[in-house]
Amino acid sequence: MKQKTVFFCKECGAQSSSWIGKCPQCGAWNSYVEEVIQREGDSKFNNKKTGSSSKPYPINEITFSHEKRIDTYNVELNRVLGGGLVVGSVVLVGGEPGIGKSTLLLQVALNCKGKKILYVSGEESLQQIKMRADRVEGKNEDCYILTETNIQSIFKHCQDLNPDIIIIDSIQTVTTEDIDSSAGSISQIRECAGELQRYAKTSSAAVFLVGHITKDGLIAGPKLLEHIVDTVLQFEGDRNYGYRMLRSVKNRFGSTSELGIYEMQSTGLREVSNPSEILLSQRDEALSGTAIAATMEGTRPILIETQALVANSNYGTGQRTSTGFDLRRLSMLLAVLEKRGGFKLINKDVFLNIAGGIRVDDPAIDLAVVVSIISSSEDISISSQYCFASEIGLSGELRPVIRIDQRIAEADKLGFEKIFISKYNTKGLDTSRYKIEIIPLANLEDVLRYIFG
Ligand code: TYD
Ligand code: MG
Repeated sequence: MKQKTVFFCKECGAQSSSWIGKCPQCGAWNSYVEEVIQREGDSKFNNKKTGSSSKPYPINEITFSHEKRIDTYNVELNRVLGGGLVVGSVVLVGGEPGIGKSTLLLQVALNCKGKKILYVSGEESLQQIKMRADRVEGKNEDCYILTETNIQSIFKHCQDLNPDIIIIDSIQTVTTEDIDSSAGSISQIRECAGELQRYAKTSSAAVFLVGHITKDGLIAGPKLLEHIVDTVLQFEGDRNYGYRMLRSVKNRFGSTSELGIYEMQSTGLREVSNPSEILLSQRDEALSGTAIAATMEGTRPILIETQALVANSNYGTGQRTSTGFDLRRLSMLLAVLEKRGGFKLINKDVFLNIAGGIRVDDPAIDLAVVVSIISSSEDISISSQYCFASEIGLSGELRPVIRIDQRIAEADKLGFEKIFISKYNTKGLDTSRYKIEIIPLANLEDVLRYIFG
């Protein structure tokens, strides 16, 4: 049989019969790799049954029942999934090595009451998994561990066991006999994920796939798999901190704005049900350079501390560094401060940090960022009883943000005295419901005048 090779783009999985320097699909340079895809017999694609049972249905005749969901007994995970794990769906959990993917899924396996679970590991031995299981909470007699990398034998065990949930740790380690290339290669990953997807749909088991990504995202996997799976969850966090965030990047069965927060402890991952604790644990006295933002992550309000350090630069132009906040957004806010606030920051170094190693995308954090920068640069502390929730526009205007009532309610609950918001956010706001004083302002100058005089 003639060996057939195809070139794949490592970034996006595009195919080509010859090597190309620049991927026409995603624009990546030097990303094509050659892979052997030797097919069994003639070609398994040609042998595919064409007389299958599929046929077109008129859309009005398709009956729709609400998708069945499995309770994972993990509140954070349930919420990120959109209300539980959908039967017959494939969920990819991506993240850097060591972030806690295996721990998370093993905990789910051990806590999912009344469900049969098959945890397939291609990375660790039975003993290693058992050791971890002893460390974390939960017990499930119907949890089976299999160390196997061959997808055909995994399916054989699945047929015998008929599990409700299958966990594949990781997709980079499994291989199918149909393809000749090595484990972790693009064609193997794609084919195995495809087969698992088909298995999930026919057996109505739910499948979790663990996918590693390296720092530079080089290894094919998550990017390529996004099209195949139903849901993509991203497990992330700063490894120097205990907090871990589970975000949904794609979800066929729910919103992608939800965030699950965990803390890695010696006994596994603890669910953080009150995320403002990240902030509260560190809030005793007012220091210059810090301000508190009332942000939202999906449907949950979180109060977060922003920390800034402004220092004279040793070089001509100052450097800007940001952790947990978009660097371009920081540059934009600094430009607004310069232009509208009259602050000269061009030859200052500006460091910005979001407490707890959390990454925030909510634009409502803008005002707290700016206030913390001025606080540091002027060395005037902001009362720890103040918090901020407003986006800042290019002309320094305070822009309204979504769900302002929830933000105010959370700040109120936590005992803050004042919250600074955009005056355009007050429409229909029932201020009498809150003890906290609401300070609606129009622009940055107003805020700076109010706080710094
Ligand atoms: P792991 O789940 O193996 O990460 P991944 O599967 O994403 O590669 O998690 C590994 C890290 O978690 C490791 O550095 C040890 C730490 N850990 C704890 O701190 N406490 C625990 O109870 C467990 C099980 C792991
Ligand atoms: Mg692992």
